[in-house]
Amino acid sequence: MAVAAFDRFIQSARALFAREKDPARRWEGLAPHLSELLADPEVVEASKRWPECAHKERAENLLFYEDPDFGFVVNGLTKAPHTRTQIHDHAHNWTLYGVLDGTETIMRYERVDDKSKPEYAEIRGVSKLRAGPGEVDLVRPWEIHAEASGEERTVAIIVRAEKAGGFLQGRYDPVNKRYWQGYGPIQVPYEFK
Ligand SMILES: [Fe+2]
Repeated sequence: MAVAAFDRFIQSARALFAREKDPARRWEGLAPHLSELLADPEVVEASKRWPECAHKERAENLLFYEDPDFGFVVNGLTKAPHTRTQIHDHAHNWTLYGVLDGTETIMRYERVDDKSKPEYAEIRGVSKLRAGPGEVDLVRPWEIHAEASGEERTVAIIVRAEKAGGFLQGRYDPVNKRYWQGYGPIQVPYEFK
């Protein structure tokens, strides 16, 4: 049962959050639990029926769960073929990005200017990797990145330290060296099934 696997993940995450307070150790420790969820064939099967997320100035995320005690949330994100996110960061929010179905390309960037000019940023690419089903990318606070699907639809399960959408995150246009902030993904409540 996909739902049973999801419940197991939530219980594991809650147990980990209760015993581990250090953010880096917490989020590194959660990765194998997310991998386990991503490896469940019934979860993959279920995701084929998840609704398509719009990708506009603010993308949509399916909101599966928000923890009442620790505040972490679990999101789903579908990408139609040839969808590429803006280059962005997640501000202070720790994130685990797990690929459930399809293969994505994950680009990472670093900021190379001194941040002294408003609305200006120079970034350069530092890595580009193909992430297939089961792969988990740990996105630490302020890390700059983008993800893209390819020929096929992709689905990701994302775990965030707190619900996105209510605070500003950075966005980057490397061609025009532009930096601005915008609110993160729109949260679309959806029952995990
Ligand atoms: Fe992101």
